[in-house]
Amino acid sequence: MKDALVVFDTTLRDGEQSPGASMTQEEKLRIARQLERMRVDVIEAGFPAASPGDFEAVRAIAGAIRASTVCGLARANEKDIACAGEAVAPAARRRVHTFIATSPIHMEKKLRMTPDQVIEQAVKAIGWARQYTDDVEFSAEDAGRSEIDFLVRVFDAAIRAGATTINVPDTVGYNIPEQYASTLRTLIERVPDADKAIWSVHCHNDLGLAVANSLAAVVAGARQVECTINGLGERAGNASLEEIVMAVRTRADVFPVQTHIDTTQIVPASRLVSQITGYPVQPNKAIVGANAFAHEAGIHQDGVLKSRETYEIMRAEDVGWGANKLVLGKHSGRTAFRARLQEIGIEIGSEARLNAAFARFKELADKKHEIFDEDLHALMSDEAAAPAQEYYRLLSTRFHSETGETPQAEIMLAIGDEETRSSATGSGPVDAAFKAIETRVASGATLLLYSVNAITTGTDAQGEVTVRLSRDGRIANGQGADTDIIVASAKAYLNALNKLHMSSERLNPQL
Ligand code: KIV
Ligand code: ZN
Repeated sequence: MKDALVVFDTTLRDGEQSPGASMTQEEKLRIARQLERMRVDVIEAGFPAASPGDFEAVRAIAGAIRASTVCGLARANEKDIACAGEAVAPAARRRVHTFIATSPIHMEKKLRMTPDQVIEQAVKAIGWARQYTDDVEFSAEDAGRSEIDFLVRVFDAAIRAGATTINVPDTVGYNIPEQYASTLRTLIERVPDADKAIWSVHCHNDLGLAVANSLAAVVAGARQVECTINGLGERAGNASLEEIVMAVRTRADVFPVQTHIDTTQIVPASRLVSQITGYPVQPNKAIVGANAFAHEAGIHQDGVLKSRETYEIMRAEDVGWGANKLVLGKHSGRTAFRARLQEIGIEIGSEARLNAAFARFKELADKKHEIFDEDLHALMSDEAAAPAQEYYRLLSTRFHSETGETPQAEIMLAIGDEETRSSATGSGPVDAAFKAIETRVASGATLLLYSVNAITTGTDAQGEVTVRLSRDGRIANGQGADTDIIVASAKAYLNALNKLHMSSERLNPQL
């Protein structure tokens, strides 16, 4: 029997700290549900003291998730810990994660505390956290640059104070695998009662070593890995969940551990996170990149056709790559539609939502005769992405574009209860469409990102557009999908404007 490796996903907390990756509560809930479906052990849902919006989002996730532990992050002070404790209270399994920095530079320059004061504060913090739950994680921020003798003292005190998980973050991505593994090994050997806690690793990717460091630490005795979908996170990101999970599974001969992850949910999770945050996945990204299982060279293709194992160490279907399977068409009925959504693990929600989605499915099937699983994911994401009360709605569009002429867009919009028409020219049809919308809305927002992805292959594929807007320090990502790229773009732009309009939209979180 192998040891269990606890998979702790922090996409919704550290991942959300990526510039511009802020998410609404509804988006966080969708990702949390996908993480639960994937059987992630612990979901770090946010940093409740950061803002009322963060608090509400963590509380909503705690109320919705049953199978995974829901965790809230808190600095080592009473107020943060009370906030985190209350936010995770509705969860079936809850954890409070508290942290304080332990490196000389952080203690001296940032905290202005002596090492003894840091230990004292950590012990108090763990005591406060234990009032809310028995499942308390303690992190020594910047452990990767901390002195080993001091870490032994801090972690000894933390375990005696009641921390059940001890996390050793390489906060600035400074470590290399051998050194990090040796740190873990030394700590586990030297900290008294080390076996009373689970040892955890949390690696940042500044030198591109986050996954390598995490895996080296697992060999050295770590039994929890903190990671994010697509490696999203501060600066160069965090260790990527999909790479760690698949390394442990594919090289079972090397790793003395196993995870509970349903690996077939990895690609859907990657797509969802990418779509919501607007962070594209590079085509050559391991496991989830579009080319991760594509064989281009003739020799490779020949080998794979003769025996797949000649060039493949994993099976694409094991990580959730569907083969663009044709699933439904224009004659498919509501029952088949519902059944397929359930088969591919899409949350249907209410009957009203199913009816609305089915109507949109019929519209799509009229334009695009073959509907693939990927289309259904986009359609349902589009449906869920639309705020319940849309203030701005796209009614219709008209475009004129001809070689040698300036493109022109005419847009019919509903703004609240009022229907209005506007037109504009632009350097291209998308530019003209956005300018036409702005002629009426005058949002004052700045466009930070515009990206388009084809959802399936073929020229009749739907385009999935992400637009990132910022205004007064707020950031909102909007999404839209359609077989017409200009329509998808206008929908995405309006979706972002709706989010900026919603009072619940929150500031881009930073610790
Ligand atoms: O990178 C880090 O040190 C963190 C801690 C809060 C765990 O994210
Ligand atoms: Zn981090």
